[in-house]
Amino acid sequence: MPEIRHLLSLNDLSVSEIEAIARRGVSVSRDPGVCGRPLSDRIVGVYFRATSTRTRTSFTTAAMRLGAQVVSYGPADLQLNTGETVEDTARVLSGMLDGLVARTVGPFHELRALADQPRMAVVNAMNSDEHPTQALADLTTLLSRFGGLEGLSLLYAGEGNNTAVALARSLPLFRGVRLELRTPPGHGLDPVVLAESLALAERHGSTVVERHDMEELPGHVDAVYTTRWQTTGTTKADPTWRDLFVPFTVDSALMDRWPAALFLHDLPAHRGDEVTARVLDGPSSIAFEQAQNKFNSAVAVLEWCLA
Ligand code: CP
Repeated sequence: MPEIRHLLSLNDLSVSEIEAIARRGVSVSRDPGVCGRPLSDRIVGVYFRATSTRTRTSFTTAAMRLGAQVVSYGPADLQLNTGETVEDTARVLSGMLDGLVARTVGPFHELRALADQPRMAVVNAMNSDEHPTQALADLTTLLSRFGGLEGLSLLYAGEGNNTAVALARSLPLFRGVRLELRTPPGHGLDPVVLAESLALAERHGSTVVERHDMEELPGHVDAVYTTRWQTTGTTKADPTWRDLFVPFTVDSALMDRWPAALFLHDLPAHRGDEVTARVLDGPSSIAFEQAQNKFNSAVAVLEWCLA
């Protein structure tokens, strides 16, 4: 039986594994021909319970480019919808598929149940807890632009959502990194995740700070990152939540503090909410290069899981 590896959370990967995936993503971005077709005898399922443009397309095309055949399931396709258990679904799919890239809507238990079998590698294409493949695309982008990850200073302004969690579980692994999170009050990182991230920073010689305002911004920032205010698959109970988010908008006045800083966004974007059109479409923005790196890093993830 071929060896497989799941990618459910960045907590499960070592710093060298994360760096190797990002480095491979950079190599693929520079020469897509390096991939070959190592998955030509494999079948990969792509199962999305929630909307997606980048992640679904990047993993589908990456699997195809690597030679795999792909079975695609939309939100209403599997008998999970009619009450079949996740455990039974995993048992059946793992007899037929070599890999499953899954965007689920809840926390980790569904993905962990899908991964609780020895034959089919499972990739977390985003759940409510974490978006690990987004952070891998982000690290690929930062590595490509800066030549290394150690010592980078990144300001993240926006909700402490699953993208923020993935960044908080990966960036502090790199020595000298400064991750400055600015999250609206009541919409910050889960305190358990923040505590884990602070512990990682302590262990690896990096710094993590979270504040719920835009005061005391760092003097030097290499990259500013924001994310949509309405994270896919979520709603906000408080009808006045927008008022809390407005001060965290990334606009030209914020970017002008650090003229050399690059702007990142996991997309989809809502111009006029979390970022102005001038910033997103301006010269410092590498958000669409970052989106392209979803494909390059998806190649690296599938190779790591299956090849
Ligand atoms: N950033 C991201 O995950 O995009 P999609 O929701 O379009 O996949």
